[in-house]
Amino acid sequence: MGTAVAGSTFQNLLYEKKGAIVYVTLNRPKVLNALNQAVFAELKAAFEDVRDDAAVRGVILTGSGDKAFAAGADIAEMSTSTGVQAEESTRHAQSVTELIENLGKPVIAAVNGFALGGGCELAMACTIRIAAETAKFGQPEVKLGIMPGAGGTQRLPRLIGKGRALQLILSGEIISAQEAYRIGLVNEVVPNANLISRSEAILNQINSNGPLGVKYSIDAVNKGLDGSVSEGLLIEASLFGICAGSEDKKEGTSAFLAKRAPNFQGR
Ligand code: CAA
Repeated sequence: MGTAVAGSTFQNLLYEKKGAIVYVTLNRPKVLNALNQAVFAELKAAFEDVRDDAAVRGVILTGSGDKAFAAGADIAEMSTSTGVQAEESTRHAQSVTELIENLGKPVIAAVNGFALGGGCELAMACTIRIAAETAKFGQPEVKLGIMPGAGGTQRLPRLIGKGRALQLILSGEIISAQEAYRIGLVNEVVPNANLISRSEAILNQINSNGPLGVKYSIDAVNKGLDGSVSEGLLIEASLFGICAGSEDKKEGTSAFLAKRAPNFQGR
């Protein structure tokens, strides 16, 4: 029996709430946490629960075992799908990445090993990527006669630039955590033993800030990157106005002037 949440029972994920942080662990270690359709369905249920639970302030997404975050889409499942089925399943996988990216709460990918294909794409949908020293990254789909299908052609160039993204996507080369750090694919590289504690420290620092400011900053960055600078500036001004009218703003500014720690309520 797996973990249960909001009427779902997870067979392929571990799902644990500890205080304000939820830990989501991809849990198919025998196949290096390969992402089949059941995993994406469970990720959808898990992240919808996170989104709807006001007590949760952030997520750490990682993989079980010491070898893989996720070694990509499940190649066995993919090998028998028709083009139409693949288009449907990839659209579903993409909708899960959009849910994670626009959750309004920070999601840290704690990349503990291989993050390949759909695994790298899942990590790129997260707000921040922290890599263990032994993590490895790549988009090796072209070696299988296909191409990235869970956002790689869109998020990778936005993160690391067009030239480097095309080099990785077209070569299928697998790179080290240090190289991923050098090109901006990951935020930090840490010793394997510190991966979760460093991710928790980052989340705790973010969680000490106003929840509305955090949520709308994520929205402004994501929506701004979809359009022109002037459209993005308009979105930023509107969301800034919402923050400036909030109780959190009264609390944050009063606490600063009174030289005390703020107590934000997220409203
Ligand atoms: N799907 C299904 N099974 C997988 C898998 C995957 N993506 N990756 C690994 N496995 C399975 C292996 O078949 C193997 O199973 P058995 O023990 O039953 O043989 C088990 O996991 C362990 O894997 P390996 O023996 O291959 O381990 P290794 O250490 O020798 O190699 C690896 C590790 C380099 C990551 C290698 O497993 C590999 O190349 N995996 C595939 C990576 C890949 O091509 N990913 C992209 C998938 S396509 C995609 O993701 C599309 C998309 O954009 C959504």
